[in-house]
Amino acid sequence: MGLSESNQATIVDLGHKSYTPNYKPRDIVFHSGRGSYLRDLDGNEYLDLGSGIGVNCLGHRHPDIVEALNEQASRLWHTSNIYFSEPPVRLAAEIIDKTFAEKIFFCNSGAEANEAAIKVARKFAHENYAPIKRVIVTFEGSFHGRTIGSVAATAQPKYHEGFGPLPGGFRYCPFNDLNSFKEALKEDVCAVLLEPIQGEGGIRPFSEEFLIEVRKLCDENESLLIFDEIQCGMGRTGKLFAYEWAQDVEPDIVTIAKALGGGLPIGATLLSGKLQNTLSLGSHGSTFGGNPVCCAVANVVFKKLSSTEFLSNICAKGEYLRAQLTELNERMGFFEEIRGKGLMIGMQIHKKYGDIAAQVMHSCLLEGLLVLQSGSNVIRLLPALTISEDEIRSGIELIGKALKKHV
Ligand SMILES: Cc1ncc(COP(=O)(O)O)c(C=O)c1O
Repeated sequence: MGLSESNQATIVDLGHKSYTPNYKPRDIVFHSGRGSYLRDLDGNEYLDLGSGIGVNCLGHRHPDIVEALNEQASRLWHTSNIYFSEPPVRLAAEIIDKTFAEKIFFCNSGAEANEAAIKVARKFAHENYAPIKRVIVTFEGSFHGRTIGSVAATAQPKYHEGFGPLPGGFRYCPFNDLNSFKEALKEDVCAVLLEPIQGEGGIRPFSEEFLIEVRKLCDENESLLIFDEIQCGMGRTGKLFAYEWAQDVEPDIVTIAKALGGGLPIGATLLSGKLQNTLSLGSHGSTFGGNPVCCAVANVVFKKLSSTEFLSNICAKGEYLRAQLTELNERMGFFEEIRGKGLMIGMQIHKKYGDIAAQVMHSCLLEGLLVLQSGSNVIRLLPALTISEDEIRSGIELIGKALKKHV
């Protein structure tokens, strides 16, 4: 494009001056992307092993997405929810066809999908049980979003600081600890909300045994089970939803966002049959929810991610990535543990190096590689689900180069 270096510096400067300081972006301005690669304004290329934060699931500018986007953009961008348009209706029908869900509520982000789930749980309890039954149990290390309700649901004090008083009615429980959970699951609990694999909490999977037991105990206690699959769902682990790795566990509500739009903003709350009438007329809504352009793209994404062949390919690539990382780690001894499932990987940095995830991320960036951190001592990989084995090998090589600065 012939864009000069000063262009990048100007935008960076303007960005730092204009933005609220809650993100602290690196001094890079991305200009274009293709597949697993991004290019900045100076023409430097980066291999993207974060896909946003698990958003660009089909890579950047996938041709099928571009086609659907252009086609819809040339016809219709928005109608209010007082009317129907075709893409959200088709998407809802497709999700219902492929999942446990019988009704869908569309919104624009993960936090909003969780807000809707919380409202459904409370309203269902309001309509069916005594007033005491309003508490929602969530788990230490969770992350459910940044709105005031979803931040209250998030059981990590660092996200609460300075925002009190927070909405009440949440009870926090230690991670994956069945005895503590049994104590927390009192008569007043209307719902349990958890990420089958905690994303921001360090790529920590709940055990299959725990999920099976939680389902059973929720049934006994007449509490709804809500899975936040915003990061771990949509094919990320090699199944459409991460909870499907636990045998015969069926949720009442699932929330999705991030990858659903392949890069466009969309979230959805999936409801089982017994909740189908809970969001009665006028009880909830979103101006942009079910936007036709986002849904036209999400239709392409959902069709691909729910195909058996695509999903088994993710499992194979996940195993390849894990094997390559394990081999690298056998040579370098940098990570204490490599965990996760499919293409959702967390690498816990060895204690002896300290909390240096941010520094490692920066060293990767200098090598032309984008990775994510998860907390202060875990490096997180959420590559595009379309990544090739060659790209995985390049990524491993770059991680190896970056780690040399720290061992
Ligand atoms: C598990 C989980 N839930 C909810 C959210 C919030 O999603 P959003 O940022 O789209 O509001 C996130 C975002 O990282 C997430 O990982």
